Amino acid sequence: MEKCISTAIGFVVQDVAVISTIWKKNNQWGNARFVVMKKYWLANRKMGLFSKIELPGVKHLIAVASGKGGVGKSTVAVNLALALARMGLKTGLVDADIFGPSIPRMLGVEKETIEGISENGRQIMIPIEKYGLRIMSIGFFVDQKQGLIWRGPMASNALGMMFENTRWGELDFLVIDFPPGTSDIQLTAVQKLRIRGALMVTTPQEIALNDARKAASLFKGKSFPVPILGVAENMSWFSPAPHPLEKYFIFGKGGGERLANELNVPLLAQIPLMAETGEAAEAGHDPKSTNPVVAKIFDDLAGKIHSLVPKN
Ligand SMILES: Nc1ncnc2c1ncn2[C@@H]1O[C@H](COP(=O)(O)OP(=O)(O)OP(=O)(O)O)[C@@H](O)[C@H]1O
Ligand SMILES: [Mg+2]
Repeated sequence: MEKCISTAIGFVVQDVAVISTIWKKNNQWGNARFVVMKKYWLANRKMGLFSKIELPGVKHLIAVASGKGGVGKSTVAVNLALALARMGLKTGLVDADIFGPSIPRMLGVEKETIEGISENGRQIMIPIEKYGLRIMSIGFFVDQKQGLIWRGPMASNALGMMFENTRWGELDFLVIDFPPGTSDIQLTAVQKLRIRGALMVTTPQEIALNDARKAASLFKGKSFPVPILGVAENMSWFSPAPHPLEKYFIFGKGGGERLANELNVPLLAQIPLMAETGEAAEAGHDPKSTNPVVAKIFDDLAGKIHSLVPKN
């Protein structure tokens, strides 16, 4: 007992030292928090407190991530999953954004409720199916108008349960829409799941790139490395509908390529800012009104992801 207390005090003293050093150096609370959290995860890992969640029917788990919020992760995750399904691959989509789920709305299934069944004495959830996708989100369980007020471990547990207690069946791809940043949820996902590859989403401007670099470091950690498959640059340019060949680089130029070079991975897609992309999300991505230009961009991206993902 005394040993536990003195170890805990030792940890707190160390953490205060780490936070104040990082804070003094670059005034970044986010970095300091990340370093401390990572330390705890590593300590937990050493103690063997975490084991992997096995999803035997799922061939490829793919994370769609970025550091910054609002750059289009969910848009890319939904369109990528739809494009993989169009290729005839069995595909699922998990909304890992516990505090801000947007997938149910983007696929027009926000009013659906999850059915549970008992299987070998365990409660198992049946994912919602739409457009050939198997979909799971915390949004099916909570009133989306009310924010969730949960501490990190609760959110991480909820994430684990969404993977572990869902009847996924056989899937070629299970795409995970990551929340923004590098907090408990992302660390849990990287540590507990066997993610086969990550797609980094960024917008072209430097501020988004900085956050994307931080998010990439989550996957490049020595303890639980995940191969980064490539970069998708979103909102690369805007072309007015009457002048489709003109490109206006309203968020700057070349950011996606810079990030890809830094990470030594390919730039897999440049996705223009198009009213149709936002409208499709609002309208629940009905395939009947899919814009062919948008569909082509994501079909190309899906083909590249399919060929890049490690096969064994
Ligand atoms: N290429 C695009 N063209 C037009 N609108 C877009 C495009 N990409 C994303 N959007 C719109 O921008 C908004 C933010 O996109 P999205 O929700 O996908 O971002 P996110 O990174 O998942 O955000 P969060 O960090 O909050 O989860 C949405 O309204 C979406 O419809
Ligand atoms: Mg999102």
